Amino acid sequence: MVEYGHGEGRVRALDSVSLEVGPRERLALRGRSGSGKTTLLHALGGLVEPTSGEVELDGRLLATLDDEARRGIRASSIAYVFQGANLLPTFTGFENVAFAIRATSSPDAPVDPLMLLRLVGLADKAEHLPGEMSGGERQRVALARALGQHPALLLCDEPTGQLDSDTGTRILDLIDALQREFGFALVTATHDEHVAARHDRVLVLEEGRFAEARA
Ligand SMILES: Nc1ncnc2c1ncn2[C@@H]1O[C@H](COP(=O)(O)OP(=O)(O)OP(=O)(O)O)[C@@H](O)[C@H]1O
Ligand SMILES: [Mg+2]
Repeated sequence: MVEYGHGEGRVRALDSVSLEVGPRERLALRGRSGSGKTTLLHALGGLVEPTSGEVELDGRLLATLDDEARRGIRASSIAYVFQGANLLPTFTGFENVAFAIRATSSPDAPVDPLMLLRLVGLADKAEHLPGEMSGGERQRVALARALGQHPALLLCDEPTGQLDSDTGTRILDLIDALQREFGFALVTATHDEHVAARHDRVLVLEEGRFAEARA
């Protein structure tokens, strides 16, 4: 369960939600605005602590770890692509990716930011600031940045929410191709049933609870 706030203003964002994500699994969380998708992604990623219940990652309970250990796990295994990309505005595409790599990857396995930008087809925008890129380009930089973390789990919050459908499809195709190549598990939050249908499994959230499960 995840509740926000206190007293009168208390909001129960997630209630009796239980799920397991397998290695390499592609899971979609569908539901209308306010149904709890982002909250569930944040709980999975350890960004929000459940009011009750627990989150287990690779056999380790997040709640039993101290902050540093939790940060370490987050950094080494979980990557986010936030709605709207969330790039650092004063850093170029290259710097955004390089910053994430420096913050997370082990020194013995350095990753080349330019190689990752090339992978998402954006090597030519490496020196551009996010403000000089289109929404789809920013989303691809966010993907490159997430890949730099070598995640075991990639959490995508409305990865195509602000894009036209062609660009959205290209981003989703790219995520699929990268998932096949790198083998991370993928959890995507989306209100769009077509986006959801591209995943192995779809769970629908309604007011903080799972409504139906489809294969
Ligand atoms: N920081 C917060 N403080 C208080 N309430 C919050 C907070 N974040 C989310 N909520 C509430 O929790 C519920 C679930 O929100 P959440 O962001 O998880 O929904 P969502 O499914 O991601 O919606 P959207 O599709 O609009 O992104 C909503 O009622 C929302 O108002
Ligand atoms: Mg959301």
